[in-house]
Amino acid sequence: MAENQIRGLAADYYPELLRSVGLRKKDLISPIFVYDSSSEYLAKNSSWEFAKVHTRDLSQHIQQAIVDSGITSVIFFGVPTKRDKRGYTALQANGVVQKSTKKIKKEFEGLIKVITDVCVCQYNLSGHCGILRKSRNGRGETIDNDSTLALLADIATSHAESGADIVAPSSMMDGQVKYIRSALDVMGFRNTKIMAYSAKHASSLYSPFRMTAYYKHITNHKSIDKSSYQVGYGNPRQVAQEVQADIQEGADMVMIKPSLAYLDLVAMVQEWIRIPLIVQNVSGEYAMIKAAAKRGWIDEEEWKVNCFTSMKRAGANSIISYFSLDVAKYLEA
Ligand code: PBG
Ligand code: ZN
Repeated sequence: MAENQIRGLAADYYPELLRSVGLRKKDLISPIFVYDSSSEYLAKNSSWEFAKVHTRDLSQHIQQAIVDSGITSVIFFGVPTKRDKRGYTALQANGVVQKSTKKIKKEFEGLIKVITDVCVCQYNLSGHCGILRKSRNGRGETIDNDSTLALLADIATSHAESGADIVAPSSMMDGQVKYIRSALDVMGFRNTKIMAYSAKHASSLYSPFRMTAYYKHITNHKSIDKSSYQVGYGNPRQVAQEVQADIQEGADMVMIKPSLAYLDLVAMVQEWIRIPLIVQNVSGEYAMIKAAAKRGWIDEEEWKVNCFTSMKRAGANSIISYFSLDVAKYLEA
């Protein structure tokens, strides 16, 4: 008679599970909200302190949290002290992302790959990922796709100048990859790679991110509707088109986000692309697990491991997640 070994949810099985789908530490990317403002900011939002780092503490954080975990890639989300109408603070040479990137590339040369999120919503007054202008009919406002492209290219160039290895345009403006690629090439940054947020779905799962990144500047972030430029979740054909377009425009890698409810798309896209596919396990996905685990409704460790196993199994080459540091503990390499 066959015997079925009882493995339960034993934690000592996690490393084997993660290894069985091929997950390695080099596949993990850890997000960091870099900020420059007063200490008040941290005190008020202590829930996921580990992901929010003041520029003055950044080197220490990179050493103790990131390097020591064996993770080699981070993505910076900038939280500036001031916003302006168009978001010009995003491209200042001493802006928060530029400053952080310079510092880390200098101090951790060869050890840490820096990816930078390229967008304007953290720097302008509207919280939208593009420049707003009056609609033609005079009623309301629309996003001006084309004038936003020049701004995004300038931001990406300033990140490259600061030493970013990879720029990750997240604004979802049409043509952003092409525009940024040619600006980088013209400015002599041929080696700077582009990770395109190709299929970024409009989602309330970005709320915790916005709560953190927009904090006191924009308090009505839940009512900001980005569905005119982010992808709808009922449209796999559009996902394929967005990915195809970004590859043609020169993306070095493409991304799908959020992750868990979109793994069919990850599997679908991985079938035919020849460049790396990244998934972003977003802030709301992190929040759901944390909130349920806090109430004792689910087992946090088991579900974290399950998520990462599933993302890798579906075909993701790399994973951006607020859980990357936790999951790295289960991996030997
Ligand atoms: C900026 C940006 C957002 C996220 C990544 N880059 C917010 C948004 O588009 O509103 C969300 C990431 C997360 O929720 O973890 N455009
Ligand atoms: Zn944005």
